[in-house]
Amino acid sequence: MKTILTGVKPTGVPHIGNYFGAIKPAIDSTNELRGAKSYLFIADYHALTTVKSAAEMNQYVREIACTWLACGLDIKKTVFYRQSDVPQIFELSTILTNVTPKGLMNRAHAYKAIVQAAIDRGVDPDVDVNMGLFTYPILMSADILAFDTDLVPVGRDQQQHVEITVDIAKAFNAVYGGSDDKKILTIPQPKIEKSVATIPGLDGRKMSKSYGNQIPLFANSNDLKKCIMRITTDSTAPTDPKPTDHPLFEMYKLFANPSEIEFMTNKFANGVGWGDVKTELFRVADRTITPMRERFEYYMNNYELVEKILADGAKSARKKATETLSRVRLAIGAL
Ligand code: TRP
Repeated sequence: MKTILTGVKPTGVPHIGNYFGAIKPAIDSTNELRGAKSYLFIADYHALTTVKSAAEMNQYVREIACTWLACGLDIKKTVFYRQSDVPQIFELSTILTNVTPKGLMNRAHAYKAIVQAAIDRGVDPDVDVNMGLFTYPILMSADILAFDTDLVPVGRDQQQHVEITVDIAKAFNAVYGGSDDKKILTIPQPKIEKSVATIPGLDGRKMSKSYGNQIPLFANSNDLKKCIMRITTDSTAPTDPKPTDHPLFEMYKLFANPSEIEFMTNKFANGVGWGDVKTELFRVADRTITPMRERFEYYMNNYELVEKILADGAKSARKKATETLSRVRLAIGAL
């Protein structure tokens, strides 16, 4: 039986681009799993590199937990837990630091980008580097290796981290006498999510927090309408045909059903006012989002239910991680 595991950093309420680009594909694929074991966790200690306030951390974790549940994560099929509730991960991380060459960390993209940015500013290359950032890939390796993970579904930006995990696992097995048929640590594989269409933001560029062009996933109906009305359009007349590669059409396709899309395609070909398109986009978007928003608010207002779900998940995660750690501790002479 294959084990699939992935982690999400708690970064607050996501936007529509995160939903269609990452959350929905992940949930759809865990719901399609047959006979595989699936783990999904909130990587709160990874967020410590940047989040330095308890109130913020609490808020982010709550929001991300409620988001995944509201978006349909099925906790009967997936073990859903908070990383910090599984201390075995941090024990493994400490052990792994000792088989990890520093050079491997020097080559990690995320670290290198921060160093380069400092160099470009003409300041000490390490000003923005704390050791949590530098050793981030080791903690991520522990997340993965503690669960005998076979497959790690991630976006392209995380591929290198999974490759580093493979190197660390092999180094550990080599040092402690694991063999191909009797591995101490299971060697994982990245499963790069096939690129989902880029979701356009309000100004037509890729929807991204850093561009400030996002539509928050759980905006209330009024705010959702306001956002949609702000989407950039041109001044062509309502009777003019419109190109279907427009962000408004792209976004419509995410929410509409096939017959609605066909109808809208004809309207675009024959001429339609942008205002009418926006009104129709709002109708289908609000139809999709309202039930999710209601579930999100329900979980946020009844957070003890979520705590219970995460506690159950952590219990089962600890059980599995403890088994792995017994093998590791036996191998290193700590048992
Ligand atoms: N580093 C990942 C990100 O920033 C989150 C993450 C932490 C993760 N641990 C993981 C992903 C283990 C996959 C497996 O998105």
